[in-house]
Amino acid sequence: MNNIYILAIESSCDDTSAAVICDGEVLSNVVSVQTAHAEYGGVVPELASREHQLHIVPVVDSALKKAGIKPEQLGAIAFTKGPGLLGSLIVGVTFAKSMALSLDIPLIDVHHMHAHVLAHMAEKPHPSLPFLCLTVSGGHTQIIKVTAPLEMEILGETIDDAAGEAFDKTGKMLGLPYPAGPLVDKHAREGEAIYPFTRSKVGELNFSFSGLKTSILYFLRDKMKEDDQFIKKELNNICASVQTAIIDMLMHKLTLAAQQTGITEIAIAGGVSANSGLREALKAKSEEMGWTPHIPAFQYCRDNAAMIGVAGYYKYLSKQFVGQDVAAAARLEF
Ligand code: KG4
Ligand code: ZN
Repeated sequence: MNNIYILAIESSCDDTSAAVICDGEVLSNVVSVQTAHAEYGGVVPELASREHQLHIVPVVDSALKKAGIKPEQLGAIAFTKGPGLLGSLIVGVTFAKSMALSLDIPLIDVHHMHAHVLAHMAEKPHPSLPFLCLTVSGGHTQIIKVTAPLEMEILGETIDDAAGEAFDKTGKMLGLPYPAGPLVDKHAREGEAIYPFTRSKVGELNFSFSGLKTSILYFLRDKMKEDDQFIKKELNNICASVQTAIIDMLMHKLTLAAQQTGITEIAIAGGVSANSGLREALKAKSEEMGWTPHIPAFQYCRDNAAMIGVAGYYKYLSKQFVGQDVAAAARLEF
């Protein structure tokens, strides 16, 4: 089977994205980043839906043009069914359904978290199977065992906040704008991890980040009582300490998962996989443990439609299509 062009659409949160994939290879990947949320300190769902509605047509148009593909050449349309913000998902799902209907081509629904993992299959060299993937984003933190592109299982996950949320919430306490993750990363590079924050201990391969958040809150409250310039003066060291604590917790459980399964192909995915400290930690641990690390290109870390297209391609190969009666699912099960 050759030259199967798939248009992919991602609209689960605050970025509108479209991509064109040909036989699993990414031809274009356009992301329109919503900046309207920054002043509110987090994603405002109503605003996100409206922004998706404004941007979806130009973004799809741009993805097709960049790929040099006309709509009539498309073999299928893949879209994010969930999980995510319902109003945001509905824009992408409805657009995908309408376009597939007008072109009379199959529709493919994709799970957003499967897609973060499968983004690795668009990379060269991609992980060989089986592999483990630590998926760390604003809404999820999971260790996934992948035995085949469409066969994956959750070995461990967060019982409260996601790793990205831990970055964003502590950044907010430090007065950094949303999303604070990339800024914590930037300041951490200039500082040293001199403050010992709580490393939560939860069972098995699960994670918990709410204790860390509380320990940072009390730490900052006490220090600011002594010196109201503390955050300003110590921002870099606080960021480095927070980042190191989060990475330690992630790497600890990832190492346990690798030891328990005997798997040595180890990947990271999701928005937090753009973190420089996590990328370095995975490289260092891989040398120590003899793993083959798989670190995504930056364009595949954050939410993007290319990953939806790659996941959609595997479903296309096994003819897993959906009908026009498909609907968005904010809490879609893994
Ligand atoms: O995967 P993603 O783009 O969206 C979700 O599906 O959630 O992840 C977004 C998350 C945000 O919490 C953001 O702060 C975090 O990824 N993030 C980072 C970095 N870049 C993005 N966190 C730490 N360091 C970074 N460099
Ligand atoms: Zn995501």
